[in-house]
Amino acid sequence: MKHILAALVLTAWCGLAMAEEARLTWMGHAAFKIKTASGKIILIDPWISNPKAPKDLKIEKADIILVTHGHSDHVGEAFDLAKKTNATLIASYELTEIAKANGVKQILPINPSGSQKFGDLTITATEAVHSSSYTEKEHTRYAGAPLGFILQEKGLPTIYHAGDTGVFASMATLKDLYRPEIALVPIGGVFTMKPKEAAKAAQLLGVKFVVPMHFGTFPILTGTPADLRGELLNLPSIKVKDLTIGKETTLKSLMQ
Ligand code: NI
Ligand code: MN
Repeated sequence: MKHILAALVLTAWCGLAMAEEARLTWMGHAAFKIKTASGKIILIDPWISNPKAPKDLKIEKADIILVTHGHSDHVGEAFDLAKKTNATLIASYELTEIAKANGVKQILPINPSGSQKFGDLTITATEAVHSSSYTEKEHTRYAGAPLGFILQEKGLPTIYHAGDTGVFASMATLKDLYRPEIALVPIGGVFTMKPKEAAKAAQLLGVKFVVPMHFGTFPILTGTPADLRGELLNLPSIKVKDLTIGKETTLKSLMQ
């Protein structure tokens, strides 16, 4: 009896130890690292050499790399990281073809409303109101539709990375379809939403937590988290969570 009990306790403890806490790290600009509850490492728009990224930032492991569009501040080091880590690169069809031409072997193309599945993890592409091209040497190529991504996994709050986008009315459809809880949204302005539009986006998406990104990297990206808080004064149920670049946080603590 004692042995059976010990075995049961051990099994339960191992189960707990195996279910990891989902974690999020902002690497500056639009670059994020997510470690899911099942231990998968997802990089989004990994421009890890951005001017605000920690100088000692190194990425040795990744399972999935998502690239929202072809602009250099989003592709960043994605192709080299995909080759180094053997991660699967997910982007628009046109951008995955460019990745392939750059030596990336594991690619999965996607377009708005399409999904790619990895076990319990589902990655769905959304539209983004922006442009997308890829410049190599002197040549600029069409890089397909600009995208955002919805990440859904059992045990993980649904996360939306908006990519570079203006606000769009069908963010309300994203709310109906996917019920995102955390939105990573650009607020810098000029090329994307400013805090005013980002506040409307948060409302349309029905999220409780907004993580501002794509601001302050360059002086022209002037939107600030404080401005976003100001725009959300009348919507106290939406919390602005500004992350410290390079500092990992659990999703549980982010959602407090
Ligand atoms: Ni862009
Ligand atoms: Mn950008």
